[in-house]
Amino acid sequence: MAKSRPYVILSAAISLDGNMATKTGDSRLSSKKDLVRVHKLRSNVDAILIGKRTMLIDDPSLTARYVKGKNPIRIILDSTGSIKSNSKIIQTCRKIPTIIAVSENISEKNVARLQRYGLEVIKCGHKKINVKKLLCILKEKNIKKLLVEGGGTTNWSFFKDGLIDEIIVTLTPFILGGKNAISLVEGDGFSKISQSCSLKLKNIHRLKNELVLRYVV
Ligand SMILES: NC(=O)c1ccc[n+]([C@@H]2O[C@H](COP(=O)([O-])OP(=O)(O)OC[C@H]3O[C@@H](n4cnc5c(N)ncnc54)[C@H](OP(=O)(O)O)[C@@H]3O)[C@@H](O)[C@H]2O)c1
Repeated sequence: MAKSRPYVILSAAISLDGNMATKTGDSRLSSKKDLVRVHKLRSNVDAILIGKRTMLIDDPSLTARYVKGKNPIRIILDSTGSIKSNSKIIQTCRKIPTIIAVSENISEKNVARLQRYGLEVIKCGHKKINVKKLLCILKEKNIKKLLVEGGGTTNWSFFKDGLIDEIIVTLTPFILGGKNAISLVEGDGFSKISQSCSLKLKNIHRLKNELVLRYVV
């Protein structure tokens, strides 16, 4: 386990063609059984992190409500702090600790707005959020295990800097197709296969029509 940052697990459900959502953002790929598994995983980590577009499109609660256990801290990447106040996460942030990571690009007015809702604001990075720095800050806050739950742009910002330790993907029985679907990892991508992290397959678990694959870096 790396010392200066949390242990980072990436979790996602993907279609057989490697996408996390259709071109319109429809991402409900997992079966109920798989969702229960994900909630169990959530209750075993200290925090879950997602990108702003996932929060806008899915409006998730990011809780572990399908299992008995604790809700992890929720972390959102949103450079300018523009997330909406009617989202489920903001509506529940006085009950479940929630951090919003922003960049120096945010206005003081927006910082004040977010703090009023009850969110903890962490500033790191100039225009964009510096994820490496953020992870060091999270470690100082005693977050030892972090679950990254996408979307594809957020996943890339972790992969490009080698910040993922483990990947758990559910391969679901769907084909989404299209160049505008959201793939597991978006961003610029690597030019050479040799730039990819090298992964070891640790477990395969079958859930009726789905396969849960666990790889470690
Ligand atoms: N199937 C699944 O398991 C699954 C899981 C999660 C999401 N999804 C789907 O994925 C789609 C959203 O994915 P997405 O790739 O469009 O967006 P995303 O990764 O959810 O959010 C990206 C946004 O986060 C903000 N951000 C701030 N700092 C960042 C940084 N350092 N690195 C990356 N992002 C940063 C950026 O907005 P600012 O520049 O404004 O800050 C960026 O545009 C949705 O349709 C959702 O349903 C599927």
